Amino acid sequence: MKRSTVTMVKKRLADGSACPKCDEAQRLLESRGRWDAIDRVVWADERDPTSEGWQLAREHGIDLAPFFIVELDGVRTAVKSVIQLLRQLDELPITTAWSEPAPPEAGPHVAAPPPPIALEGGLETVRWALTTFGADCAIAFSGAEDVALIDLAAQTGLPYSVVTLDTGRLHSETLAFVDQVRAHYGFTLELAFPDAAAITDLVRRKGTMSFMVDGHHECCALRKVAPLAKALAGKRAWMTGLRADQSPATRTDLPIVEDDPKHLAPDGRPLVKVNPLVRWSSADVWRYLRDRDVPTNPLHLQGYRSIGCAPCTRPVHPGQHEREGRWWWEEATHRECGLH
Ligand code: ADX
Ligand code: SF4
Repeated sequence: MKRSTVTMVKKRLADGSACPKCDEAQRLLESRGRWDAIDRVVWADERDPTSEGWQLAREHGIDLAPFFIVELDGVRTAVKSVIQLLRQLDELPITTAWSEPAPPEAGPHVAAPPPPIALEGGLETVRWALTTFGADCAIAFSGAEDVALIDLAAQTGLPYSVVTLDTGRLHSETLAFVDQVRAHYGFTLELAFPDAAAITDLVRRKGTMSFMVDGHHECCALRKVAPLAKALAGKRAWMTGLRADQSPATRTDLPIVEDDPKHLAPDGRPLVKVNPLVRWSSADVWRYLRDRDVPTNPLHLQGYRSIGCAPCTRPVHPGQHEREGRWWWEEATHRECGLH
C-alpha cells in the first residue's frame, strides 16, 4: 500500500497567537471532515527563525502560511493552499483507495486459542470469529473502529450481534450516531444499562462527578464493566475495536485473539476476545470509513478523537495523542476503564 503523510505548517505570530488565516484553513479542513488527513502540525514561529515551520518554508521556497508538505512514497511536495490540498487529498491513493493493512505475522499473539484458519487481516479475522461463534460473538460498539467492525461483519453475510453500553453519561451525539449505525445496517442493537440501585448508591455517597475526585474506576466499574458482564452472559466470544497504537502505555502488546478470563462462557471456559483491528492505525480506520461511506460520530468534526462518556472526554489538538482527551486529569497508565 502506498503511504502518504501530510504536515500542516501554521504561523505563530509575535504575540504567541496563531495566524487567523491558518486557523481558518484548519476549520475548513475540519468542516469538510478532512482534519484527520493531517498527520502533524508544525509551527513557523515569528519569534524563532529556527522553528521547524520556517525551516520547511526555506527548504521549499515558500513565504506564506499556512502551507502543507505532502510526502508520498518518500517524495515531499509543498502545497500552498488549503483548497489545493483538499483537491489533492481526493487524488492521493491513500485517501481514496482503502486497502487492508498488512496481514499480522504469525506468532504468539494470534495463537491463543489457535484459530482454524490463518488470520489474514481485519476481514479474515471477523469472518473467522463469526464462522466460529456466529451471533454468540458480540461486537462491542461505541466508536469509529466499531463501525468498521460492523461493516466488515456485514460484508461476510454471517450472523452477528452488537452490544452498546449505555452508561447514562454518553453525549447525545453519540447516542444519535449509535441509532444511525443501527438503522444503516439494520441490526437489532442490545443496549446494556448500569444497575440503577448501584448508581443511586454511588451518587448518594459521592455525588455525580466522583471520578474527578478519586479516580474513574469506581464509576466505570458500575457504568461499564458490570453492564458488559451482563451483556456477555451466554455469549462465547466478543469483538472489540481496540488498536495497538491507541495507547503506548496500555495497548501496544494487544493480541488479535485472546482468552478473556474476566468473562466465562456457559461451558465455564473463558470467553474469546477478538480484536481484529489491532494492527490498524487511526488513519487506516478513517480511510476505510470514508471509502465505505458509513455513518460517523459528528463529535469528530469538533476535534474529538477517542470518545467515551461526556464528562470524561474532551477534544484534542492536532499533534496530541487521541487518548489525551480521555480522563486527562489522571496518569496515562491509569486511562483504562476496566473493560480491557
Ligand atoms: S475505553 O475502555 O477506553 O472506554 P475505548 O473507548 O478505547 O475503550 O474503546 C475500545 C473498545 O471498547 C471499543 O472499540 C469497543 O469495542 C469497546 N467499548 C468501549 N466503550 C464502549 C461502549 N460504551 N459500548 C460498547 N463497547 C464499548
Ligand atoms: Fe463514569 Fe467517566 Fe467512566 Fe463514564 S467514563 S463510566 S462517566 S468515570
